[in-house]
Amino acid sequence: MAHKSELIADDIEAYLKSQEEKSLLRFITCGSVDDGKSTLIGRLLYESKLIFEDQLSALEADSKKMGTQGDKLDFALLVDGLASEREQGITIDVAYRFFSTEKRKFIVADTPGHEQYTRNMATGASTADLAIILIDARKGILTQTRRHSFIVSRLGIENIVLAINKMDLVDYSQQVFSDIDIAYREFARDLGGIEHITAIPMSALEGDNIVDHSANMDWYTGPALLEHLETVGVRDAAQTKPFRMPVQWVNRPNLDFRGFAGYIASGTIEPGDRVKVLPSAKESTVKSIVTMDGDLNEAVAGQSVTLTLEDEIDISRGDIICASGDPAEVANQFETTILWMADEPLYPGRPYLLKIGTATVNATITRPKYRIDVNTLAHEAALELDLNEVGVCNISLDRAIAFDAYDDNRETGGFILIDKITNATVGMGMIHFALRRSSNVHWQALDVDRTTRASIKGQKPVVLWFTGLSGSGKSTIANIVDRKLIAMGAHTMMLDGDNVRHGLNKDLGFTDADRVENIRRVAEVAKLMTDAGLITLVSFISPFRAERRLARELMGEDEFKVVYVDTPIEVAEARDAKGLYKKARAGQIKNFTGIDSPYETPENAAITIDTTTTSPEDAAEQIIEMMVQWGVISR
Ligand code: ADX
Repeated sequence: MAHKSELIADDIEAYLKSQEEKSLLRFITCGSVDDGKSTLIGRLLYESKLIFEDQLSALEADSKKMGTQGDKLDFALLVDGLASEREQGITIDVAYRFFSTEKRKFIVADTPGHEQYTRNMATGASTADLAIILIDARKGILTQTRRHSFIVSRLGIENIVLAINKMDLVDYSQQVFSDIDIAYREFARDLGGIEHITAIPMSALEGDNIVDHSANMDWYTGPALLEHLETVGVRDAAQTKPFRMPVQWVNRPNLDFRGFAGYIASGTIEPGDRVKVLPSAKESTVKSIVTMDGDLNEAVAGQSVTLTLEDEIDISRGDIICASGDPAEVANQFETTILWMADEPLYPGRPYLLKIGTATVNATITRPKYRIDVNTLAHEAALELDLNEVGVCNISLDRAIAFDAYDDNRETGGFILIDKITNATVGMGMIHFALRRSSNVHWQALDVDRTTRASIKGQKPVVLWFTGLSGSGKSTIANIVDRKLIAMGAHTMMLDGDNVRHGLNKDLGFTDADRVENIRRVAEVAKLMTDAGLITLVSFISPFRAERRLARELMGEDEFKVVYVDTPIEVAEARDAKGLYKKARAGQIKNFTGIDSPYETPENAAITIDTTTTSPEDAAEQIIEMMVQWGVISR
């Protein structure tokens, strides 16, 4: 959804650009409906020359209701429209509204105000130059005000308008205004990162200090809101930064032409400029800048172009073409701030896809350092991040990428995290810096490789991954398979949950986060075992798809076979060999799989054993037979 909104915003931007050469200010409004957000946005739209282009608007129908370009609208109707759409929960994360005045054009990211919608706010804020933080003069600074300010500051928005609204309801009191102003500036100082705060007393409903200076507050000498929005310095810094162009695709229509297409994230470029391509660090010189409208003598941030280079060097999608004198950095481990936007928590150790610029890589949180309480700014210990939480985490990628610190460049330092199974965007993040170990830990080349180790044993290494409920019979069956394999002269190793939890994993319990880590470690150990050439039997509940998938990806498709020991919970509970189900039902064990902790059924098991119809001995025989068929062992 966020993605869609972004596309729409880009379309709008393109449209606006084609219409007029005014500067563009992107801003976001933060506050709840009660603070008068709809009224304020309605007022801004009402007072300006409206541009509603149906096909560009995420809110087609509503824009029609509200009127079309040039019409003078009914103000009340407009505000109603904005507010009701939000109350009805019309399913948009962010509505981009756009309008223009004589001096400037604007895109305002309008986001639902409820606390739960922090993610929407963050989506809208990530492209904004300015944030309007709305405050109800009667209520002053609220938890939400702090939360929004925190996110805005972390997303690198340097300009804040503190819109102290509903001044008509506090008799236009200068005292009320300045008390809030002072308190906010104090909070913002602790927060850091906010460069400019402009506090404006207003009444969006009455129109005080929106377009014109209000006669009701002659003690206020600053600008009216629209005046400020028209004149505030826009971030044009992108062009003054070093050149960066993440490569979107390689364009090779024939053997004579090889171009690298992308969107210029920052800086400027001319033919003859020296460039460095990261992460490979190969250098060349720009030969030409190709566009649909012919070759250019110069291109700048914000343009999409195709570059050709003097030298034949290897470049692929995801690489960044940089100014050679001031290149980005390259690393595979970072400290980051992450804003988690999914219902299911962020678990350290679980693999996600990380998308930065045009590159997509596998990423895991190696360590959540702390969570930040956005109200008090206190750092709290964190084992996971829940919906809307913000944390500082170390993150590790499966390969090195080119990047800049987010503070230096939002385009090349900001990323999103994507769930590998659902493909949903689950988080967004900002890179602080690369961890030094990123460049200090190398792979040691070994003289004896895994194939050699396996061939000495005369077998093909494989992991048999037994998954199923507690008491399903995993260990019983795995044990018999193990005995049979040994009898056949195979070299095996058995990793059993109950046993590994007494040693390597004795620090872990049964929370979701601990189970994720439990399986991650065992998957890594199983990988070492296959490197040693062993046939490895893993018997863990391993309830989550994401971690079984992680194991599969570590090992490779034909070295990893899932054996799903399919025993219905009633049957496992009736057997209750360890007496644990009884305890779990009595509430003496928390987070028990199948009772108050989930088990996600495997979707691609190599073998499924129905233990209600198959004896352990027969099950083991079936598995051995399959192994013979796979060519892992021979009879
Ligand atoms: S896993 O979910 O993290 O894969 P694992 O296989 O290591 O679990 O451990 C499961 C074993 O721990 C069970 O067979 C059972 O003996 C024991 N156990 C203790 N508490 C629980 C619990 N809350 N849920 C499941 N198993 C538990």
